[in-house]
Amino acid sequence: MNDALKIYVSRDATALALGADATAQAIVAEAGKRGVAIELVRNGSRGMFWVEPLVEVATPAGRVAYGPVSATDVAGLFEAGFANAAPHALKLGLTEEIPYFKNQERLTFARVGLADPLSVDDYVAQGGYAGLANALAMSGADIVKEVTESGLRGRGGAAFPTGIKWKTVLGVESAQKYIVCNADEGDSGTFSDRMLMEGDPLSLVEGMTIAGVAVGATQGYIYLRSEYPHAHRALNAAIANAYAAGWLGADVHGSGRRFDLEVRLGAGAYICGEETSLLDSLEGKRGQVRFKPPLPAIKGLFGQPTVINNVISLASVPIILAKGAAFYRDYGVGRSRGSLPIQLAGNLKHPGLVEKAFGVTLRELLYDYGGGSYSGRPIRAVQVGGPLGAYMPESQFDTVLDYEAFAAVGAMLGHGGIVAFDDSVDMLEQARYAMEFCAVESCGKCTPCRIGSTRGVEVIDRIRSNIERDKNLVVLNDLCNTMRFGSLCALGGLTPDPVVSALKHFSEDFEVRA
Ligand SMILES: Cc1cc2nc3c(=O)[nH]c(=O)nc-3n(C[C@H](O)[C@H](O)[C@H](O)COP(=O)(O)O)c2cc1C
Ligand code: SF4
Repeated sequence: MNDALKIYVSRDATALALGADATAQAIVAEAGKRGVAIELVRNGSRGMFWVEPLVEVATPAGRVAYGPVSATDVAGLFEAGFANAAPHALKLGLTEEIPYFKNQERLTFARVGLADPLSVDDYVAQGGYAGLANALAMSGADIVKEVTESGLRGRGGAAFPTGIKWKTVLGVESAQKYIVCNADEGDSGTFSDRMLMEGDPLSLVEGMTIAGVAVGATQGYIYLRSEYPHAHRALNAAIANAYAAGWLGADVHGSGRRFDLEVRLGAGAYICGEETSLLDSLEGKRGQVRFKPPLPAIKGLFGQPTVINNVISLASVPIILAKGAAFYRDYGVGRSRGSLPIQLAGNLKHPGLVEKAFGVTLRELLYDYGGGSYSGRPIRAVQVGGPLGAYMPESQFDTVLDYEAFAAVGAMLGHGGIVAFDDSVDMLEQARYAMEFCAVESCGKCTPCRIGSTRGVEVIDRIRSNIERDKNLVVLNDLCNTMRFGSLCALGGLTPDPVVSALKHFSEDFEVRA
């Protein structure tokens, strides 16, 4: 099949939802009918969802993209000479020259979309496992130092320095330590973990193995949300292939070091993304928040020292070990170093995955990448960082993506999900939704969250119904303070952020209604 024409169709869940399987089948059938020899590669998504199913044809000049290609478009594409990258209404040009893609800084997502995500050979050919190979020749302390110096901070939400967490685990004496990957990805508008696990699962496998080698852990678990069946299949296949190639198991790459890895499925609770609930769930218990201290780094899974990191944090480690801390740290601004895979969602013309160095503005993301609203109406509000993130008004769109800059305006970057709303949004409804979400998802351990969120819904309902509006606005503020300062974890503690920001920036939606 060496001179066969290489055609790429993504097997990412978004592409599948938009018909990628039917498109791929139509390509195989049409090529057979016409006697065109093709090699169809099912790759990860390039992250441009509005042109999925994206079909790419390999040419000497690079990969030429067509999209969105439905099964019924395929015969016409062959007819037009698509196999020779001929012009067609759906032709988008060289993939790497499409501005949305070209202007990104893809570090963690560098390989996503390039090849078959499950092939260890493809992974190694594209620079994979160079980081682990380097790590195996280093001491645990030196690996931890490299990660610390890269400036990498946790991408799961709290932005805690990854190297510091690893150092704590390294420093604890224990016969058994664990590496746990948080793949619960519960935030609204987020999908970078999923795309990475489907599009380059071996980078997560490699990152976890490096973490194990660094801190002296021999067992890893990926805690995956059950709503990600495609990621589940991809991870299991990638892990099996890594074992077969000697990159996992009793003798990682001939080093004499052991690292074993398994996937465990969650049962669908937002709170199981919180690290201590996740550990309880992984132990087979009902997911409920643990008191801290002790930190999971000291007493985590089954009471043993545990590194727990987000998918993107762990998948960013291989490039740091392959290219050095300075390479990674050179990207970014202030204390936000490296890059962030940003997820553009909600009412946007061009939703998708954009990996940029920290420092890009929200406005650039919404308009230069996102293309403005899908509806064509003005973007009125943006929620960044999931359901507990503040609502940001237009006056804050010039905020740069930087953990501290976001905190300075009362917002948070979280896992980098951006959800846009046009001017038809009712911000009182959004505030109510925040309280309702908290009431539904509360683990029930502490009163301010368990009871406060339900009272919050009731108070907002009274405001909406003009029942003692002014008095209830005071009660709502009081309640938010109680939840913020009295909750045991960030679910109850941050729920006031979307509520208070909606009140502060969009107070007109809380006025007396007709
Ligand atoms: C309510 C709640 C939900 C969370 N959900 C997730 C999640 O889905 N994925 C994740 O990586 N971190 C989540 N976190 C953050 C984790 O508790 C923890 O900070 C993270 O796994 C640490 O990894 P990192 O340092 O690599 O970010 C959540 C936190 C809270 C309070
Ligand atoms: S804040 Fe909510 S989710 Fe967190 S521990 Fe308290 S009740 Fe559980």
